Amino acid sequence: MQLAQRYGARIEAARLAGWLHDYARDLPAERLIELAERAHLITCTLERKVPDLLHGPVAATLIESIFAITDAEIKQAIAVHTLGTENMGLLDKILYVADLIEPGRNYPGVEQLRRLAEVNLDQALLTGFNQTLRYCLEKNYLLHPQTIQARNYLLEQI
Ligand SMILES: [Fe+2]
Repeated sequence: MQLAQRYGARIEAARLAGWLHDYARDLPAERLIELAERAHLITCTLERKVPDLLHGPVAATLIESIFAITDAEIKQAIAVHTLGTENMGLLDKILYVADLIEPGRNYPGVEQLRRLAEVNLDQALLTGFNQTLRYCLEKNYLLHPQTIQARNYLLEQI
């Protein structure tokens, strides 16, 4: 909500997106895959291997069916809060960055990212993509192409 105020996004939309973005995170892997298949949300074979990556897109469909939230911007922000995507909208960027700097986060560099988020949302988002990709590399995790595309797109825009 603070970032929404700072960058002129709809504060109530940011509030709902913040509250509901992880609505599907604790679902069992099989259930995430089942719901994602039903809604045709699977875009990459990697998502079957790492079903947790589906919790954003699945949450975006669940909040419509369960809470009757049809707001396209809120649903989109929730859908892309884990992987990012090319050409992200203002609320998409705010939710992605807010998720990385919320008060419960504590990792090296979080304070720097918090300060950056207050002055330059795009640079904060780029830093967020870079640190997410770096983390996956260091852990030898698979990289999702959507995050690489999101990062490249943003970098070229900047
Ligand atoms: Fe999440």
